Amino acid sequence: MWDQYGRHIHYLRISLTDACNLRCVYCMPEHMTFKRREELLTDEEILRLVRVFADLGVDKIRLTGGEPTIRPRLVELVRRIKSTPGIKELTMTTNGLLLPELALPLKQAGLDRVNISLDTLNPEKFRAITRWGRLEDVMAGIHAAEAAGLEPIKLNCVVTRGFNEEDVVDLARLTLIHPWEVRFIELMPFGDVADFAQSAVVPSRETRARIEAALGPLEEIPGYDLRDPARPFRLPGAQGRIGFIDTISNPFCEGCGRIRLTADGKLRLCLLRDREVDLLAPLRAGESDEALKRIIVDAVYHKPWGHGLARNIIPKERVMSQIGG
Ligand code: 5AD
Ligand code: SF4
Repeated sequence: MWDQYGRHIHYLRISLTDACNLRCVYCMPEHMTFKRREELLTDEEILRLVRVFADLGVDKIRLTGGEPTIRPRLVELVRRIKSTPGIKELTMTTNGLLLPELALPLKQAGLDRVNISLDTLNPEKFRAITRWGRLEDVMAGIHAAEAAGLEPIKLNCVVTRGFNEEDVVDLARLTLIHPWEVRFIELMPFGDVADFAQSAVVPSRETRARIEAALGPLEEIPGYDLRDPARPFRLPGAQGRIGFIDTISNPFCEGCGRIRLTADGKLRLCLLRDREVDLLAPLRAGESDEALKRIIVDAVYHKPWGHGLARNIIPKERVMSQIGG
């Protein structure tokens, strides 16, 4: 599939649930209400859509949430998605809490690797950001993922002013002794938490300067793929890598081949644009695969060029947990 700007669209991110076992301050309000089960895609509906998307050339899928690991029967769903003809790569973004039990079964079911969210190495700050999480549980999850071979491990750090902008140095230091990629993400504004997010953005250049002042100059790793939002760097002598995802200060929309399926069955064409096309209703109305394909191809063709944050156009309809990042 191609959009009208000539971008090749072959990477689908599927949100398996809007619910989460944490409540990160930048991701959702504390008293969030979640969708009812009937509003969400069933396993069979997800698998049917995966087959349809794979027929249309999607070869890479990432499972997200909310928190994807809290979905019942996850391992079986992973097995069936990965065995769909055409699907070459299956990954997941998770907070890591449930990986001690799930990492090995997921790997055996065909999951290729995981991105784990980690915003700080300070247990009290971790609790403040997640509202009740325990850092030691995430660290156990990271080690379980590594032991299971869900590699290379990528760690996502959303940098939020007033919470963790100083913690980036300790996180960067992890790459000295671990072959992990630590990625620093600029905070993005969504829905009810948009005002907070806009006031708390830390530009990547500030994060980078902080890391270099403490740990030395970052060297760029050659061979950067435009489709990857994070340009890779390395600290002198480090085993792992460091990346920066500068959605706000340096948009990477021109290389974007991503589309997103929300847990309630809407095709979201850009993370930061409210425009969506409903797939749940046609699916439940008994439309054929061919009819679904026409809807999808048309929607993808009209994928927005990029976000409008610089002109203060902010996605209002959903918060991050309802899209999946
Ligand atoms: N801005 C940037 N990243 C966010 N995430 C959640 N909310 C935001 C936001 N407002 C991150 C999570 C996770 C990934 C799914 O997206 O920390 O790593
Ligand atoms: Fe892709 Fe939209 Fe993000 Fe740009 S803002 S990279 S088009 S999802």
